Amino acid sequence: MPEAKIAPSILAGDFANLEYECKRMMKCGSDWLHIDIMDGHFVPNLTIGAPVVTCIRGALPKGDSFFDCHMMVSEPERWVDDFAKAGSDLYCFHYEATTEHEALIDKIHAAGMRAGCAIKPKTPASAVFDLVPKLDMVLVMTVEPGFGGQKFMRDCMPKVEALRLKFPELDIEVDGGLSIDTIDFAADAGANVIVAGTGVFRAQDPQEAIAALRTAVNK
Ligand code: DX5
Ligand code: ZN
Repeated sequence: MPEAKIAPSILAGDFANLEYECKRMMKCGSDWLHIDIMDGHFVPNLTIGAPVVTCIRGALPKGDSFFDCHMMVSEPERWVDDFAKAGSDLYCFHYEATTEHEALIDKIHAAGMRAGCAIKPKTPASAVFDLVPKLDMVLVMTVEPGFGGQKFMRDCMPKVEALRLKFPELDIEVDGGLSIDTIDFAADAGANVIVAGTGVFRAQDPQEAIAALRTAVNK
């Protein structure tokens, strides 16, 4: 299994101080920064777009920090070039948001980013099996996308297990309700990229929380 990567979701941070929050998470030992992009259409919530990602990238130069952009948007094809220009490292689209998966993956790679594909709780893991050879990551959602602070859905773990069994070297990300209390379910199933919003930002000691998540995955 690939090494653990801990990706705090800045959605749980203070949006009035995004630069400070991103730098704080990097100092606390984050491997990646998870940036949640919501369009009010694919999900019933709005967050930020490429202009804000450009600003954060201006404050955290490429190479210093890895931007994992989780695109909860309809028509994910539309934003590939903007996010590449903004300095995104990974563009993770939702399987449910397009029918032209392979063309989209090619477009993301051609723009110079890694390509990820996310599946909602009701989408089976088998939906992405044929895409995996082209993908850099699969994200198995462990809540319905749209909001931070929801309860971890343990019943999504068989999907992680199925993916890990078939693809031992794949980066498998989980997102939603991850914390020290739920990490063992995800780690035992085979997830290695761990998104945590509330679980890190609301922890008494975020540095300790990030370290504990990493230890649970690498054990
Ligand atoms: C939910 C987002 C998540 C969210 C996670 O739609 O994709 O990344 O910020 O937040 P927590 O860890 O609080 O569930
Ligand atoms: Zn997310």
